[in-house]
This record gives sequence, C-alpha cells and structure tokens, in this order.
Amino acid sequence: MIPHVNFLNMKAILVSHRGGPETLELREVADPQPRADRNEVLIEVEAAGVNFADTLQTQGTYPLGPRPPYIPGLEFAGKIAGTSQRVMGFTSTGSYAEKVAVSKTSLLPIPANWSAAQAAAFPVNYFTAYFGYWMAGMIAASPAPLPAASGRKQKRVLIHAVAGGVGTAAVEIGTLLGLEMFGTSSSEAKLQKVKALGLQHGINYKEKDYQQVVAELTKGEGVDAVFEMLGGEHTARSTRCLADMGRLIVYGMATGQVPHYDFMAMFQKNLSTHALWLTPLASHKELMAEAWKQLSAWTEKGGLSPVVGTELPLAKAAEAHRLLLERKNYGKVVLTLKS
Ligand SMILES: NC(=O)c1ccc[n+]([C@@H]2O[C@H](COP(=O)([O-])OP(=O)(O)OC[C@H]3O[C@@H](n4cnc5c(N)ncnc54)[C@H](OP(=O)(O)O)[C@@H]3O)[C@@H](O)[C@H]2O)c1
Repeated sequence: MIPHVNFLNMKAILVSHRGGPETLELREVADPQPRADRNEVLIEVEAAGVNFADTLQTQGTYPLGPRPPYIPGLEFAGKIAGTSQRVMGFTSTGSYAEKVAVSKTSLLPIPANWSAAQAAAFPVNYFTAYFGYWMAGMIAASPAPLPAASGRKQKRVLIHAVAGGVGTAAVEIGTLLGLEMFGTSSSEAKLQKVKALGLQHGINYKEKDYQQVVAELTKGEGVDAVFEMLGGEHTARSTRCLADMGRLIVYGMATGQVPHYDFMAMFQKNLSTHALWLTPLASHKELMAEAWKQLSAWTEKGGLSPVVGTELPLAKAAEAHRLLLERKNYGKVVLTLKS
C-alpha cells in the first residue's frame, strides 16, 4: 500500500494497474512509515533484487499477490536509516524504492566483501535453493535424507533455468555439496558461464531433449533430484528424469501452466514430489535460522558469491522485467539506487 502522507519525498516504482513491464512507473511517493507494533525499521535501499515472481505479480498471476497500486520488490540491500549498519532481507512488497519499512526480525547482516547488488541477489535465490536441497534430502540437516538406492556415492541433480537467479545459486550450493549437476537453458552462451561456476552437464533445450540427454549421460539411471520451476508437461518429463526413490522439487510455473504429473512413472520408481514456496516457509523462524547458519558458514568459507548478471538503475525496472520474461538474463538482475 502507498502510505497516506502528504509529502512525496522518495522515488519508487509504482504498479498502478495489472499488466506487463510497461506498468512499472517511476514516481515520487511518500516515505513508508515503520510500524512499532510490527517491530519495523526504515531501510535506505541501495539495491533491490528482481525476481520472476515480480513479473507474475504485475500480471496478477502470482498466488495471493498484491493488488495495485503497490510498490513491487521482495528483497533489498541497504542500511538501517540513520546508521551505517549494512543489511539485506525479504519483504512482501516495497523494495523497488529509495526506502522500505521492514520487520527487524527479517534482517540479515551483509557479508563484508559483498557489494549491495550481490547482497540484494541473495535472500530469495539462496534460501530457495537451500530449501530445495533440504527437501531433496541432500543437506545434512534434511528431515528425511535421500536413501542411497543405487549405492552411488555422488548424488545427481537436474536444475531447470540453471543460468537464472535460483539456478546459479543452486549450482554454487550443489558444488559445495559435491553433486553431479545437470542444468537446462535456452542459450549456449549462458550455459558456458554456468559451467565456470561448477555445472558439469549443460543442456540447451532449444537443441536437445533434456530427458533424453539425462538418460544417455546417466546410462538410463537418472538423477536423484530435479529442481522443477517450469510447470505443464515439464513436470511429468522431469519426473521421468529421476532415478529410483528420486525427489521432484516443484517451486514454480514459468510456462504459466499448472504441473502435469506422470503418476505411473512415480509408482514405478517410488518417486516423491515436494512443493516449495519460500513465502510461507519464511514464517518458520527456526528453519530460516538453521538455513542462515549453513548459508553464512558457506559464505564465510568463500563458497557462495551471488552472481549478478545485470545492474540497472531503479528507473529501468521495466527493462529488468523484460530481461527475465524474454529469457535474456544471466544470474540475477538487480536495480541499484546508489552508486
Ligand atoms: N517457490 C519459491 O519460493 C520460489 C522462489 C524463487 C523463485 N521461484 C521460481 O523459480 C523460477 C526462477 O525464478 P528466478 O527469479 O530465479 O528467475 P530466473 O531463473 O532468473 O529467470 C527466469 C528464467 O527461466 C527460464 N525460462 C524457462 N522457461 C521460461 C518461460 N516459459 N518464460 C520465461 N522464462 C523461462 C529462462 O532461462 P533460460 O533461457 O536459460 O531457460 C529465464 O531466464 C521462477 O519460476 C520463479 O517463480 C520460486
């Protein structure tokens, strides 16, 4: 919601009606007012992460998304107003702006050697990728570890949109977990960049059938987990890429189609599927703390370094959304507010 104050003293991107990237307009609006009853503080935003979810929200296709008029943006990096304390974190809306009011409990310290753009690229992508592996039983703290059905020591994962925000985060974490990784993208150039991050098998789905490539490279055995965010027929096809007892982590529908399941394939290999949505997960404070403990430990050892493919000024938010919708982004697209 836009705060009801008379002074229009900060720049923000406003979505005044549903639609595509053209609905994102730079406006002067009132400063947000932190609410004491919600334990909120004001953040001077230096960078805001751009998420695929933001593009769905403007179109009105995101579940329980905000109603216009609203300021978009789910994550930010900046300083607590009036201090030099550098913080990053999640918010439900509002980070495409010079200031945002957020709950103190959602704030995370920015690692010393990260830029504001890198920090803004962290919260959504890395927590999502972490919980994907957690649900797949591939993290030490996982509730149900993946059974060693094949006897193979090295586990395998197939990551769709591997060159995107969540995709590159999943490759960095997968490298730390010692996984054999397969990843899909529409672009050879993007795949080459992700290979430099540790991806072993890049699959250009414009040229090759990923189901066939996975079957060939694993000699028919398949992978132990798939990070599935496409929906439609890709959910069933991804299921058919799994090895015995494999796990399908479903966390998006970039095609705009609801997932189709192949239950016979699931029965034949005793497969399971796990839905992943960070928004409700984020209310589980103890799980988030456990995730942050692991993610920050990896970061301190130099294992995580968010990949920012494009930095654009706030005024170019529409261009940022187009990059994601037209599949032209590599890694994270970030809006910057201060140089
Ligand atoms: N459940 C959760 O909590 C959660 C959290 C974060 C993200 N997500 C989901 O994860 C997915 C990735 O999000 P992100 O923000 O990291 O975006 P992203 O991967 O950086 O950007 C989207 C990428 O998806 C690929 N893509 C494949 N089919 C597409 C299609 N039909 N339309 C547009 N793009 C398509 C494109 O890469 P290629 O050209 O390389 O194929 C495109 O660059 C989205 O589906 C998002 O909704 C879910």
